[in-house]
Amino acid sequence: MDGNGRWAAQRSLPRTSGHRAAETTVIDVIEAARAAGVGWLSLYAFSTENWRRPSSEVDFLMQLVRRVVRKHAPLLHARGIRCRFLGMTDPRIPAELAQDFTDLMTLTSDNRGMTLTIAFDHGGRRDIVEAARSLIRAGVPAEAVTEQSFAAHLPFPDTPDVDLVIRTSGEQRISNFMLWQVAYAEWIFPRVLWPDFRAPHFLECLHTYQQRERRFGDVLPKQNGGS
Ligand code: IPE
Ligand code: MG
Repeated sequence: MDGNGRWAAQRSLPRTSGHRAAETTVIDVIEAARAAGVGWLSLYAFSTENWRRPSSEVDFLMQLVRRVVRKHAPLLHARGIRCRFLGMTDPRIPAELAQDFTDLMTLTSDNRGMTLTIAFDHGGRRDIVEAARSLIRAGVPAEAVTEQSFAAHLPFPDTPDVDLVIRTSGEQRISNFMLWQVAYAEWIFPRVLWPDFRAPHFLECLHTYQQRERRFGDVLPKQNGGS
């Protein structure tokens, strides 16, 4: 979800206004994904590198996400959405925020409509390092480490590989997002800034994705059965 700061700068507003305006987009995209039958939606809200930002902005984001989670928890639950928070290990995360996240995960844990993963204080490299530590702690012998057994030690190992990554604002970077899971993801980089992104943009991305030919390194079998 990129481009909040530039959206605000275009309007001579403080960066925080851009973050505030992002709330509408978040709800719009969640509703659009659910209505379109998307089974898994992940939103990258705060990275392990975002802690480098001025503390006033970090504090604002912590308060904002807490307010948004509390405000929309009933709607998410009513829509049958199962919510999860990926990351969330830094001790700087306010205890009240961690509690609200835990409450929402517990409230929605039996829902089967769509799984919404909010990556907050998330870093793909950290998840990989933690998985390696977890394997070693479990005493898994080196020969038994396979892609499958390794992935089982990542957080939320039932999460399928990422099919599509949409990064708004025109930036074309991974920025440490779910590094393991995006190995064969398709990528779309809409130029529109996140606070301006709406359901029609999202549906257009889904449409573009449907036209991509995914081969996973293989070649496609001949269509006409010719030799
Ligand atoms: C994305 O918008 C939101 C977060 C990382 C929280 P940015 O804050 O990165 O906006 P730009 O990139 O400065 O425009
Ligand atoms: Mg940015």
